[in-house]
Parts: sequence; C-alpha cells; structure tokens
Amino acid sequence: MPINPAREPTIYLGLMSGTSIDSIDVAAVDFEQGNNGDLHLLGCHTHSIPAPLRRDIMRLCEPELDTVQLYAETDSALGLLFAEAAATLMGILDLSSDSIVAIGSHGQTIRHAPPSYSKQGYSQQIGDPNIIAARTNCAVVADFRRKDIALGGQGAPLVPAFHQQLFFSPQKNRVIANIGGIANITVLNSNGDCGGFDTGPGNMLLDAWCQKHTGHAYDNNGNWGAGGTVDDALLRQLKAHPFLAQSTPKSTGREDFNLPWLELQLQQYNLSPQDIQATLALLTAETLADCINNLGTQIDEVFVCGGGAFNGQLMALLQRSLYKSQVQSTAELGLDPNWVEACAFAWLAKQRMEHKTGNVPAVTGAHQATILGGLYLP
Ligand SMILES: Nc1ncnc2c1ncn2[C@@H]1O[C@H](COP(=O)(O)OP(=O)(O)OP(=O)(O)O)[C@@H](O)[C@H]1O
Ligand SMILES: [Mg+2]
Repeated sequence: MPINPAREPTIYLGLMSGTSIDSIDVAAVDFEQGNNGDLHLLGCHTHSIPAPLRRDIMRLCEPELDTVQLYAETDSALGLLFAEAAATLMGILDLSSDSIVAIGSHGQTIRHAPPSYSKQGYSQQIGDPNIIAARTNCAVVADFRRKDIALGGQGAPLVPAFHQQLFFSPQKNRVIANIGGIANITVLNSNGDCGGFDTGPGNMLLDAWCQKHTGHAYDNNGNWGAGGTVDDALLRQLKAHPFLAQSTPKSTGREDFNLPWLELQLQQYNLSPQDIQATLALLTAETLADCINNLGTQIDEVFVCGGGAFNGQLMALLQRSLYKSQVQSTAELGLDPNWVEACAFAWLAKQRMEHKTGNVPAVTGAHQATILGGLYLP
C-alpha cells in the first residue's frame, strides 16, 4: 500500500546534481519523525546521467562552446531526468505525491560567477523545475542561489545552515567538510557561531586527470595517485592559484579549477601522470587543511561528507595535514556522507515552504538572511 496519509504530509525529497556531474542524488526525508530536530532518512537513490547529456552539460560549462539552443534543450532534458530520478525513488519507497510536501531541486550549475566589488554576479542552475512538478505531481522548490546573490551574497555555500541544524555540538568545535567537485567547509563553533566558505578544488581536478589518463571516471579510493610521488614545485605552483589567497566570503566552481587550467600549469613540468595525480590529491587535502588550520579557532573534530569521503588516500592525506583535529566521515554522526547534500536541499525546501530563511549571511556575505528558492506548483 502506498503511504498516503490522512494527516498532513511531512516528507520532502532533495535532488542534487553537483559540480562533479557524476550522478543525480535523491533523498527522501521525514523531518517530523526524527528525534531532537534530527531527520529520518526514508531512502535514497543514485540516478545515472547518460553520457551524451553529461557531454552537453560540460559544453555548457565552457563559454566558448555554449549556445542558447543547447542551454534550452539541456534545461528540458535535465528537468525530465530529475523528474525521473525523483519518481524512481518515490516508486522504490511506494510514496504517493500527496505524501510529499515538496521536492527541493538544486539543479545543475553551468555557471557560477559570485559578485565582486565591480559587478553584481550570477549563478545559473538548470533542470526545468516546471517539468519536475508536472511529471511528479509534487510542489518543487528550485533556484536556491539567486536570491542570496541578489542580496550581495556569493549564493554559496548554502549547506551550512543545514549542517548547523543537524551537526552542531555545544561541547565541540566542529568542521563539516564537503568534498564534492569543489570542497567547502562549514565551521560550527560550540558557542553557536556558524561560518563557512569554499576552500578550492575537491575531486574535480582529480577526476579530470584520472579520466584523461586511465579512462576511469575517478581514482577509486585514490589508489592510483597513492602510487605516485608528489612534486613539491608543482604543488607550490598550483597552490598559488589566486582563489586560494582570496579572503572570505568566497565560492568557486569549474570556472576557476578545470583541466585546461591544470594543463597550462603543467607546461614547465615533465612528470608522469601518476605523479601528477599524487600531487593533485595533496593539493585538495592541503588547501582544505590550510583553511581549517588557519581559522584561528581550535577545531576538535572534522567530519567529511561528499564523494571525497570514499577516497581513503585523500582522507589519510587530510588527517596528516590536519594535525590538530580528528578526521572522520559524517557516518559517525549518523548520516552517510553520500546523502548529506541531497538532504540539505530537502531541508532548504522545507525552509522555503515554512517561510524560513536558508542562507547564513556570515557565510555568503549577503546583506541579510532570506528565504531561498522559487516555488513551482504541480
Ligand atoms: N570510492 C571512491 N574513491 C575515490 N573517489 C570517489 C569514490 N566515490 C566517490 N568519489 C568521488 O566523489 C565524486 C562525487 O562526489 P559528490 O557527488 O559528492 O560530488 P558533487 O556531485 O560534485 O557534489 P556537490 O557539488 O554537491 O558537492 C566522484 O566524482 C569521485 O571523484
Ligand atoms: Mg554528485
């Protein structure tokens, strides 16, 4: 029997497709059933992105290759795929549309240009929410980032408020480190202060280099890179990327860290692909660790989420660089690192439906806390 309650629905779905463009993550969450503000994860699903669609998204991420035609077509194609992903999980869990309050859909970022002193800034996510609403018969909340940008913020990262809600401890200073395509941290001070920003590359350069030289989508467990030797001169040069020295608030994307940029850096070097992979792994670990070590606050615990948590070599490098804090995965806090971001967008949809704010101005730099996202009714 489908869950089709007489009482008010309490379930939200979160749909996430990140900068890695590896797959679509969907999570179904019941916030009412959790204890003490916890969430109850009903189930989750990974929906694959067909290779031609992934290629189209990659083209849209490159200003030299994009077109309005491709933008419009891919917006629709992704809307259909997001709807299919949500409907698949609803089928698996036997959830009817009237048991779901709303679906929070992050969308696929194809451009992220946060504001600077001279310009307004913008961030574009695609995957038409109208199609998701029409196909699933559920309300959809989407376009989460642009209100924050309209208020002078970076529009990113948006997960810190959710991390605060779920992972705050009054006893310990914690950092939640999300290692997706880009890496970002949320700083949860035991006094209640919440901070955060993007730290730089996560898996993006590692994936691009691994795909080019091994044909595999990613370096499983970091094993290939672990067999290489780090080149200190190259590491220093990569760490000279201007984003890494920028002050906060800050956010980044494929615009800053991508394969053509990496290949430009490599021109002076004659290193084996494996040594370069080893160097890229340490780049991700050290840029993340440097940010945490330089916070000016003793961090007791670091919890990692995102796909990077499954890269054993990366986790070991991170622990080595974070000599003062213990590194674990968010599984230790009760939530599988794979599903944290999707749950965050389910929660942000809940915030929107309840007319509550979703951004943290101390993180994004927005002038004020605000309600995020547009509502698309079925
Ligand atoms: N077993 C593994 N070994 C090494 N790396 C892995 C493993 N599993 C996942 N990954 C890495 O995690 C990446 C996917 O992570 P994730 O889905 O969190 O990133 P994302 O889609 O960019 O998300 P977001 O932008 O929301 O942070 C893969 O592309 C890969 O690099
Ligand atoms: Mg992903």
